[in-house]
Amino acid sequence: MSDVTSSRIEGFHKLDPAGRLLAVQRQAKLDNKSVSDLVEAASGHIELADRLVENAISSISIPVGIATNMTVDGRDVLVPMASEESSVIAAVCNSAKRCRSTGGFKTSTSGPLMAAQIQLLGASDPENVRLKVLERIDDIRTICEEIDPLLVKLGGGFRDLDIRVIDTAEGPMTIVHIIVDTRDAMGANAVNSMAEALAPKLEEWTGARSLLRILTNLADRRVARVRAVWPLEEIGGEKVRDDMLSAYHFADADPYRAATHNKGIMNGISAVVLATGNDTRAVEAGAHAFAARDGRYRSMSRWEKDGDGNLVGILELPMAVGLIGGATKIHPTAQANLKILGVTTADELARIIVAVGLAQNFGALRALATTGIQKGHMALHAQNVALMVGATGEEIDQVASELKALGKVRQDLAEEILARLRQGDKA
Ligand code: MEV
Repeated sequence: MSDVTSSRIEGFHKLDPAGRLLAVQRQAKLDNKSVSDLVEAASGHIELADRLVENAISSISIPVGIATNMTVDGRDVLVPMASEESSVIAAVCNSAKRCRSTGGFKTSTSGPLMAAQIQLLGASDPENVRLKVLERIDDIRTICEEIDPLLVKLGGGFRDLDIRVIDTAEGPMTIVHIIVDTRDAMGANAVNSMAEALAPKLEEWTGARSLLRILTNLADRRVARVRAVWPLEEIGGEKVRDDMLSAYHFADADPYRAATHNKGIMNGISAVVLATGNDTRAVEAGAHAFAARDGRYRSMSRWEKDGDGNLVGILELPMAVGLIGGATKIHPTAQANLKILGVTTADELARIIVAVGLAQNFGALRALATTGIQKGHMALHAQNVALMVGATGEEIDQVASELKALGKVRQDLAEEILARLRQGDKA
């Protein structure tokens, strides 16, 4: 742990990024190499970092790779994925290739409806409160539409109310959901502003007290769905198919396995969400909550075999992504990635993202049901371990291939191999 003298740095946020870095260097007794690494990492885009977050000192770059072979709704698409994890992108390329002969991925969506919640408390008659709010739907529409006239001009805006009385540890509460069509925006700003504007009015109309006013990430009215068929011969035969189905049934029945299975799906989903500058945490929260909508945490995907014995995969998830607003609009890499994708609406982007999630899941199930995942991971893992022990240039491949040949990718062995190589060079 670094030896920070104090975490108080007077006026830190008012400094520019270089000034902040100096202050951190002083406070954390940071060596010059680390400081220059941080400077170099943000070279050319420190201003952007400073605009996106508070107290910026640097940025961290995540590799962007392209998933090839994807056909989504009859269109071939190259998909940029931002991920630090090896094998993730290769798995999507491989899985997508294996379902090209059946037309790739077919998708549908429910439309871009987001919801914000307004919590109403303190009423002895919460059901009465519910009805009082429902009676005001026209006033609510007017207030919401005044908040975002541009959204209305673009064809979006307030759509509906959904009001529930929930039981809590402190008694019943009336929870108002405003349902808003946010078009090509992720929509957090729009619905949150509407909820905040509405809350005092709801208090006035009902006599209840409003407390939280915030969107829900369980965007179950903004669902993207995908299905694909993998022919038996592309899977590796009936045994592999049936083992993949058993792997899926395991995940669907057991939350311990479901967490890992779904993490694999999110490897693909979050990578595209991040590459396009969208909010990975929002999508992840929505996806996991949706996976537990039956009251039990289950597999996000569904797998079955069709009448011809082929494997059918299905994925259906909330997909709150946008093309406008936030980092998507101002991050040049996100903009370039959107150009590669060739999407013009958030709806198209959502469809591609779930298709990648399904491809990722197919890859993981197939690997796990056959050779296991370590084999695929080994090559890159060996290189990473070589880098970790300080190998440079040609040494990286030399150390990695010796580790692979040994079948043991361990740091101590990598150190020995590197020392031997260097010794040999001197001899
Ligand atoms: C690793 O990042 C993802 C997997 O663990 C997913 C899975 O187990 O299904 C391979």
